[in-house]
Amino acid sequence: MKYSKIIEAAYKTVMEAENVGTVPTYIPELAQVDPNKFGVYFYSLNKQSFGIGDCDEKFSCQSISKVLALCLAYSIIGDKLWKRVDVEPSGTSFNSLVQLEADNGIPRNPLINAGAIVVCDILLSILEDAEADFLTFVRDLANDESVNYSIRVAESEKSVGYRNFALCYYIKSLGNIENDPIEVLNFYFKLCSLELSCKSLAYIFSFLANDGIRMHDRVQILTDTCTKRVNAIMQTCGFYDESGEFAFKVGLPGKSGVGGGIVALLPNHYSIAVWSPKLNNKGNSYRGMLFLEEFTAQTHTSIF
Ligand code: DON
Repeated sequence: MKYSKIIEAAYKTVMEAENVGTVPTYIPELAQVDPNKFGVYFYSLNKQSFGIGDCDEKFSCQSISKVLALCLAYSIIGDKLWKRVDVEPSGTSFNSLVQLEADNGIPRNPLINAGAIVVCDILLSILEDAEADFLTFVRDLANDESVNYSIRVAESEKSVGYRNFALCYYIKSLGNIENDPIEVLNFYFKLCSLELSCKSLAYIFSFLANDGIRMHDRVQILTDTCTKRVNAIMQTCGFYDESGEFAFKVGLPGKSGVGGGIVALLPNHYSIAVWSPKLNNKGNSYRGMLFLEEFTAQTHTSIF
């Protein structure tokens, strides 16, 4: 199949449609981004790669980083992880507090803010220098030493991140945060501020399409069973209370971020990243979802 032709056509279709939604204003730095940016990068395991639009421009990964933090923690402590965080879809927004009380401080899954904050706490407890070690993990996945956090975006979010402060302190009060909440939040904001292009995101996530094996040096990052589980969590929880809709329309495991990025993958075939900053009311990229729906429809590829 000639993926590039289909990507070009789908890109054009979405470009011509109205660009609906709003850029997030609750993180001041993200409100500054040009809302008309639109990039796509497709990376196939048989090296049929293709990019279009703003695919080389770096943007704020935000919640997409949560998957990488999960992978790093899972690769180190294995299934002990599930004592601290569950694997059920929450059916609530990404920053919701409501379920924590009933669930005794065990977040529903690692991809909502509450769950990612607990994963950050775990990484702080098991790593020498979590910020540096996480960055090295991502740089190695990207095969690119230039990957970095944005201090500006991290500071911007920290200055107004009251909801995440509330989540972290509340989980701490319920006994599921070991470290100083400020340290946990500093790491969480840093992790969210990671900047990557569609091109590097598609490449980074290719190991999850490849049974956990990194493409450039064949290093096994996660076992195939762990990889299956991470993909299952992305499928069921990657888009919060829109995960059902994403499965229904796109049919791939994936993850979104409020920076406007979405990465998705078809196991054993490809990974694909889209960036368009305007978000729908669930906090997911409007054009990103539309493009991926068109892409899987036209390529007849999905896990279903
Ligand atoms: O914690 C937050 O609110 C942001 N740093 C990340 C949220 C996010 O990306 C939600 N995804 N669509």
